[in-house]
Amino acid sequence: MICLGIETSCDETSVALWDDGHLVTDLVHTQIPMHSVFGGVVPELASREHLRLLDGLVSSVLQSAERPAGQGIDLIAVTRGPGLLGALLVGISYAKSLSLSLGVPVIGVNHLYAHLLACDFTEPIEYPALGVLVSGGHTHIYEMPAPCEFNLLGKTLDDAAGEAFDKIAKLLNLPYPGGKYIDILARLGTADPRLFSKPYLQNDNCDFSFSGLKTAVAQYVHKKSFAAIDYAAFDVELIPQEIKDLCATVNETIVETLLEKTRRAVARCHDVKTLCLAGGVAANSHLRHKFSAFAHARGFKFLAPAQNYCGDNAAMIAYAGVQWAKKGLMSSMDFEAVPRGKI
Ligand code: KG4
Ligand code: ZN
Repeated sequence: MICLGIETSCDETSVALWDDGHLVTDLVHTQIPMHSVFGGVVPELASREHLRLLDGLVSSVLQSAERPAGQGIDLIAVTRGPGLLGALLVGISYAKSLSLSLGVPVIGVNHLYAHLLACDFTEPIEYPALGVLVSGGHTHIYEMPAPCEFNLLGKTLDDAAGEAFDKIAKLLNLPYPGGKYIDILARLGTADPRLFSKPYLQNDNCDFSFSGLKTAVAQYVHKKSFAAIDYAAFDVELIPQEIKDLCATVNETIVETLLEKTRRAVARCHDVKTLCLAGGVAANSHLRHKFSAFAHARGFKFLAPAQNYCGDNAAMIAYAGVQWAKKGLMSSMDFEAVPRGKI
């Protein structure tokens, strides 16, 4: 099955083509430089940028796959949600129009499930699996009993882990989105595990709440009044050691919290063969290391996408679309965008 994937849920415009289990080509255009000026994603600008870029990216992908007119394509997969409504509508409208003009079916894909299925790119997920999805907008733990089956075990009640990283980075005047910069600086610092308590563990559930940690860090930063970091010129040599130590502490606190809730989720599952870690935050080196060690100690296979497939990309959307189509779970032509909530 040849599937064209389209992703426009947030600030990456991406198009990919899969041909029978083989990723032929994929392009990702990130809008981060445009939004970073504002310190966060500006929804209207994101939609306009998707509209400006999408047709060119589709043409480039089809050209490089030597199918300039879309010949041979069996399926179009597009992100249905969650995401920014305007941004989703650009991708969905485009995908439906292309579907009508090529006469091929279109399927709306759950972006969160697609993130987790990207673990399959490296090695096959063995089921039953446990999926930990950690991104800028979501922190979800799923039981994955079989392919295309997801039972939600826990989720964030407020800020997602990525959002906590980004907001804390902003407090430190680090570039946007800050998760990556905290990760880099954390590697050069020493964590103090007594500084901040791991948030929302005094319960027996698998949910998360990271907003308290952000407030605790804000109060700490205010009290310490660190020397200002030059935002534009991110140079690790010029960043004081106490900021590197603070980044290591924040990183450790978030990673340990994710791990503790994952331990609880494992205890609620009948059997786990694979631990899947996915989403933008899964690029975090300490998180990957800790989760990999935990999985191996428990005898699970550990899978996380390669760093360049942790963030938003259309390769995962096309791949997930094919998995759903193979099960006969197609969308009707009138499916709508689902910016939040259950798809
Ligand atoms: O999955 P994603 O690309 O977009 C959403 O669907 O939300 O995730 C983006 C998030 C941002 O919050 C970003 O700061 C975070 O992933 N992120 C990281 C790292 N790389 C990206 N967080 C921690 N460490 C990283 N290395
Ligand atoms: Zn995402």
